[in-house]
Amino acid sequence: MQKLVITGEKKLSGELCVHGAKNAALPLLAAAALCSERVVFKNCPGLSDVYASCRILTRLGLECKREGNVVKIDPEGIKNWEVPEELMREMRSSIVFLGAILGRMGRCRLSFPGGCELGPRPIDMHIAALRQMGAVINEEHGILDCYAPKGIRGADIVLSFPSVGATENIIMAACLAKGETVIKNAAREPEIVDLASFLNRCGARISGAGGSTVSITGVNRLHGCEYPVMPDRIVAATYLGAAAITGGEVTLLNARKSDLESVLPVFEEMGCTVFCYDGKIYLGAKKPLRAVRTIRTMPYPGFPTDAQSVFLACLSKAHGTSVMVENIFENRYRQVDELKRMGCKIKTEGKVAVIEGVKRLYGANVVATDLRGGASLVLAGIAAEGKTTVSNIKLIDRGYESIERDLALMGADIKRV
Ligand code: EPZ
Repeated sequence: MQKLVITGEKKLSGELCVHGAKNAALPLLAAAALCSERVVFKNCPGLSDVYASCRILTRLGLECKREGNVVKIDPEGIKNWEVPEELMREMRSSIVFLGAILGRMGRCRLSFPGGCELGPRPIDMHIAALRQMGAVINEEHGILDCYAPKGIRGADIVLSFPSVGATENIIMAACLAKGETVIKNAAREPEIVDLASFLNRCGARISGAGGSTVSITGVNRLHGCEYPVMPDRIVAATYLGAAAITGGEVTLLNARKSDLESVLPVFEEMGCTVFCYDGKIYLGAKKPLRAVRTIRTMPYPGFPTDAQSVFLACLSKAHGTSVMVENIFENRYRQVDELKRMGCKIKTEGKVAVIEGVKRLYGANVVATDLRGGASLVLAGIAAEGKTTVSNIKLIDRGYESIERDLALMGADIKRV
């Protein structure tokens, strides 16, 4: 069982590139199944979920070759519409394949993991929308069996919540559908804009992505294209947090300011200096961190839930008391008990966490309970006095190509053993 060994209290300083976004790459890889010609993704991150997605595409009959961060997909050979359970189990967000397979094949059969570390991951909005588009979907024992006897057709869909996954599945199912689909209260995340840009470059007709109303006019076929995956905004927030929590500085060479507009002001309110110039983001934390007023996680463009645990760690070293409200997932404070073993003073009650800043954090042996929570333990470890070991790091590897490589580039004393 691998673990990370960290010796803390080093001021981080350096500059680095942020790898491609996991939450853009996964829907993009699924969307390749809609195309009839070769697709080449660049800047595709080397993550376990990406490898699992490539195995699923291969199983569907597409040719999928990964060379470093380039993934070449030849989709002509698509022949299956069933994704076997053992492949689905490897990946949390396997549901992202549903819309693409159904849209291309008119059939889809896959199992979906009912929950993950964040709690149950319901898919009621995905199912309801696809049924509106003519799909017949039977759900039993975690197996989704879907088919469209009369083909998938466009529909007017209103989402009760701007679900990222549901918005992505509907867009993918609608690209080759008969007629027009309009999604109201669509999710506005940058990863959705990335997906729509890719599909439009392949000949789809999607407008309004990034806004609350997205319209898709079905076309007969999609050709291929070459497409660069956007940089990961949560990895960017994590590395900015690493500089903040250690009182250091960092320059991210390819992070996009527009993806972090609800995150950068919180770093500034904590007393960090933030500069954005020529596509780069600089953060310096020369002054001791200050507590901030309430942070509420919200759908984009609000503060991202995926950055919540990173800020729990940073605010633990800020002078004063801060409040975090987690509005997206019902079980996203599981990391707090491990953070408290390192001296953090965090009290949680339902969606609310109260973080009382402390002068010092102490190294400890801690266990990652989920992807972003694991990253917060690493951040606490690089700031803590003494040695920290973080185990169960395969959860961290789902979202970070090599968190130890990148933090070591910034001067952290961190090794994988
Ligand atoms: C995506 O998950 C991301 N995953 C998550 O990132 C991210 O936290 C989340 O969006 C919110 O930004 C990927 O993109 C692969 P949702 P998703 O559908 O699509 C409820 C990470 O760490 N809901 O917007 O599952 C749901 O339970 C991961 O990278 C329903 O009730 O998020 C949740 O409470 C974690 N019914 C809320 O909506 C549905 O049919 C937001 O879910 C769908 C969702």
